[in-house]
Amino acid sequence: MTQARRGTLGSARGRSGFSRRGFLRAVGISGGASTMFAAMGALELAPTAEAAAAPPYRAPRASDFRLTGRSAASVVVLGGGVAGLVSAYELGKAGYDCTILEPRGRTGGRNFTARAGTRQSELHGYSQTARFAEGQYMNCGAARLAQWMVTVDYCRELGVPIEVFTNYNADAYIYNEKSGMTPGRPVRYRTAEADTYGYVGELLAKASDQGALDKQLTAADRERLLAFLERWGRIGAKADGFAYRGSTRRGFGVWPGAAGTPGIELSPVPSVSEVFASGVGRYFSFNLNYNQAMVMFQPVGGMDQLPKALTRAIGPRRVRLGCQATSVTELAHGVRVAYQDGTGQERVVDADYCIAAMPPHLLAGLPHNLGSAVQRALTSIAPASAGKIGLEYRSRWWETDHRIYGGITETDLDLSHIWHPSYDFNGERGVMIGYYNTGSRADRYGTMSPKAREERAVALGSRIYGRKYRTELASSFSVSWQYVPHLEGAWHRLPGGSPDAPVLRPLTEPSGRVLFAGDWLSYTDGWQHGAILSARKAVTALHARALKHEHRSTPAERGAVHGSADQDGGE
Ligand code: PHE
Repeated sequence: MTQARRGTLGSARGRSGFSRRGFLRAVGISGGASTMFAAMGALELAPTAEAAAAPPYRAPRASDFRLTGRSAASVVVLGGGVAGLVSAYELGKAGYDCTILEPRGRTGGRNFTARAGTRQSELHGYSQTARFAEGQYMNCGAARLAQWMVTVDYCRELGVPIEVFTNYNADAYIYNEKSGMTPGRPVRYRTAEADTYGYVGELLAKASDQGALDKQLTAADRERLLAFLERWGRIGAKADGFAYRGSTRRGFGVWPGAAGTPGIELSPVPSVSEVFASGVGRYFSFNLNYNQAMVMFQPVGGMDQLPKALTRAIGPRRVRLGCQATSVTELAHGVRVAYQDGTGQERVVDADYCIAAMPPHLLAGLPHNLGSAVQRALTSIAPASAGKIGLEYRSRWWETDHRIYGGITETDLDLSHIWHPSYDFNGERGVMIGYYNTGSRADRYGTMSPKAREERAVALGSRIYGRKYRTELASSFSVSWQYVPHLEGAWHRLPGGSPDAPVLRPLTEPSGRVLFAGDWLSYTDGWQHGAILSARKAVTALHARALKHEHRSTPAERGAVHGSADQDGGE
């Protein structure tokens, strides 16, 4: 995963030196912020939205070719994941003749939904078939969309309905066994937050009141800070030492009801050192992240509704399932891709261009003639591990017994995250995500048999939720992404943590007829959003090249006849 680092004033500072900064400060002081930003624009430092944004995306159109007298070219796309599908979908709008080679039996890549009958084998030989009841599913990979992500726009464009994905739930649990929580005694988010914010509010109010912040704050600042802390932490008055003594925010043992039932607040309130020792606060920052904040979404009926819709829009006959690329050769006037089809037969497809939208570490393993800089770039990207297990239950006991509707329970067990389903609330059955873990934890579960994964997930999860975690279980299905054939990873570690690392330039600014797309060439690695934007970038570059380029417009001219994309792909 990468951290977004934009061309803001912060990063410009190193290059621009002090004189420019001094100048800007002077402008800012004399002319105010807007004058300063205008001056920054003139200095090409502007941290404005326009400066930071890529130009708005415009899909290629058939009419674009009119002026150039060219026709749309043929394109072979390696990989039917989201990047490959979006590439073909966008190119198809201008009439490009696309052929997708996808080695798995389905499109979507890491956008993968398991439901009754879904089969998946892993590289160590374990094979599973999901036995979920009708209507039940789990999103094994991609599972949540932030509302600002372009993925949401594709759902709209393709008519894929979305619903809220509950990424934060005040009544979900935190369970930190290493810091002393015992089986059956998780704490609710709302309680943990009330206590943490309460004590932080109290401490900060005291520090400020005692003059510890006088260097940083004016008297007016201190007053405003205090006014904020009073609300944020629900702390006491100055006369009471700003003491936090708990509040209704913590939740109730008996919820307030009709007259005569005022409710019974949870008690006792832990001490400040107990609260910090519990480690609950380490989870609060998660949903502040720019890509994890509510409101978030999921397609109704499973994340794979999106690749299914894309595949329909592209035209299924353009998608060759079970077809694994075996080599990529750039020719003087095109690209030749050899592949093995579903029957094991060696075949070849020739096209004017290629978009390579398969995992970089697997692409690096294909014989190609794209040069050592491309190979160096591909091998500089390392795959990362992640896994999930879906636990299907005969009843929605987490809703009826625990009053938890969606959202995430956080643990310091090797399960890491436990998800409550965000679909079919109050339904009869449901699929919990019993673990979603990454890194060494995912490596550990990955080597276990599916049965052993289930046993461990249920044993550990029972410590939080109790008996029904075991007794209500109907079936399970687990995926360990590093062992899924043709994917072998969940996301990536980019060199220097950035898709703009110089070593990657042969992939982000390719000079030949092979272009590259995938979440790994974006600032949101591990998100469909990144896959889509990288695909659009590749499509835009390809189209610009096709409009001015030397691509040959007929198969006869190209002289290639081995099942060319043009031959069996023409619309
Ligand atoms: N998109 C994935 C998720 O939301 C992986 C990811 C997590 C990527 C956190 C970046 C940050 O779980």
